[in-house]
Amino acid sequence: SQCCVDALSAMEQEDGMRQELGSLHGMPLFKTFIEGWPQVKAFQARPDDLLIATYPKSGTTWLSEIMDMIYQDGDVEKCRRDAIYNRVPFLEVNDIPGPNGVEQLENTPSPRLVKTHLPIQLVPTSFWEKDCKVIYMARNPKDVVVSYYYFHQMAKIHPDPGTKAEFLENFMAGKVAYGSWYDHVRGWWEKRQEKKMLYLFYEDMKKDPRREVQKILQFLGKELTEETVERILHHTSFQEMKKNPLANYETVPTNIMDHNLSPFMRKGISGDWKNYFTVAQNERFDQHYRERMAGSDLHFQMEV
Ligand code: A3P
Repeated sequence: SQCCVDALSAMEQEDGMRQELGSLHGMPLFKTFIEGWPQVKAFQARPDDLLIATYPKSGTTWLSEIMDMIYQDGDVEKCRRDAIYNRVPFLEVNDIPGPNGVEQLENTPSPRLVKTHLPIQLVPTSFWEKDCKVIYMARNPKDVVVSYYYFHQMAKIHPDPGTKAEFLENFMAGKVAYGSWYDHVRGWWEKRQEKKMLYLFYEDMKKDPRREVQKILQFLGKELTEETVERILHHTSFQEMKKNPLANYETVPTNIMDHNLSPFMRKGISGDWKNYFTVAQNERFDQHYRERMAGSDLHFQMEV
């Protein structure tokens, strides 16, 4: 019947959204993003651009909403002007019809907030030539892998994640979009003193968001009243962002993100990995973590 045909083509269409990963200078990435790479590489930064850089699932959207609130001096109404992915365009995105990230940014008035998940060695050189400020946010890898697994379910651009155990193996091996978490966090950490960079942690933001927002203000050389900071903290709390359609990605079509499979604003806590890792997986992960982080003074809190 027509009904079955429609259901079937809808399924095919949904599966058709999923992309295999190609290699961008050795880093696994969606094929359409790689196709758009020449444009990203040639991106013209402006001196007053601020780059928000993260490994996926490390609190990008949270930091983006905080930054837009700071830029709008805590004016909630101004932050309701558009969805977060339009207020803070995603530099290398190139998968949906319409303008890609670069084109969107070209049409964005300064001062721009720019989101990227690129590892530091792939950031377009223009950002460094223009001496742009960067805020990097890192999150502990156990919570990242759990969050990334659920994100693979709901965000249909990703390859099928397989089982949780399979996904954990792929994550540890760096065989996921944006490659190795270890290389990413270490690469940015090692360059933080050479650049105008603030390196933040999701766990610190959870524990004491007021202190972290003050760090950001200091980095920007900006002062806000206590009352404004209070309003920013309230507006960017997990509970508020979860119910805010302009922050929670629910305005994205379901064939791209299906919140019925897993909401974008999933749990927003530190230490959720404990609900998923087996004892054996945790031991193996800890061992691998020690090997991959050896010789680094970068340390993560696995819970707060
Ligand atoms: P969980 O899947 O663990 O809940 P990104 O924006 O980089 O994709 O990261 C998404 C993760 O950040 C999700 O983690 C999401 O719930 C969490 N998150 C989003 N907004 C948050 C907030 N205001 N406070 C705490 N966590 C938040």
